[in-house]
Amino acid sequence: MALLSRRSVLTAVLGAALAVPLAAVPPAAVPASAVVGGAPASTAAYPWLAAVGSPLFFVRPSGQFCGGALVGPDRVLTAAHCVSMFRSAPGLLTATFGRDDLTGTGGRTVAVTSVRVHPEYRETSFKDETVGHHDLAVLTLARPVDRPAAVLGSPGSARTGRIAGWGFTSENDLFNTRLRTARAPLPGNAACERAYGGAFDPSDMLCAGSAAADSCQFDSGGPLLVRGRVVALVSWGYGCGKPGYPGVYARLDSLP
Ligand code: ARG
Repeated sequence: MALLSRRSVLTAVLGAALAVPLAAVPPAAVPASAVVGGAPASTAAYPWLAAVGSPLFFVRPSGQFCGGALVGPDRVLTAAHCVSMFRSAPGLLTATFGRDDLTGTGGRTVAVTSVRVHPEYRETSFKDETVGHHDLAVLTLARPVDRPAAVLGSPGSARTGRIAGWGFTSENDLFNTRLRTARAPLPGNAACERAYGGAFDPSDMLCAGSAAADSCQFDSGGPLLVRGRVVALVSWGYGCGKPGYPGVYARLDSLP
């Protein structure tokens, strides 16, 4: 099981919300890797990139636990599993833009006023991992942000993409707070079906990554880019950077 699986992130968020001491969050094993083979990046190159979080999630600087992409002046696209538990309390969520390192105060944080989850979002499982189907949600911000929106697209027949996020980078760097990006191969649906069988649904999912480049915990909701367009968002995977198990992404071209 990953260090902070979706469930334990959830437990931590809800635990924080209920003021349960962190010791109550069950300890978990360590992930193999995260934005492996990546390098530090600047949000200047990704002005639409949001760090989605909550002040209640005090275990992470800036309260960050996911990524997201500005798609309109006051709209952020993120993963449903990141925010579905905030549907009835959207005001507990924030989106921060322009903060290269989460320990800093740069950029700008905006409150969230509504959470809309994909109508077909549902969870199944693969081994210890929660699998999100149609793992997409749209946040409405309290005020418009004066930043360019991300350009969305389709992967076409691309063989590689780029991933970006503030998530863990390796077993020895669990507490990464820097934005990092990596180039990741797109191994295709057959490779993904070999890894995940029926848990992988090519109609709304896409695989990316290898043992050398993958996303990991706290990268969810962040972008997979092809030719500068966001084509999918980080969703799930078996561990991180495990040979034969690429990361799985929620395709944007499956949006209703
Ligand atoms: N579920 C994780 C998150 O909430 C993302 C996991 C991605 N895993 C992978 N091997 N690419 O941050």
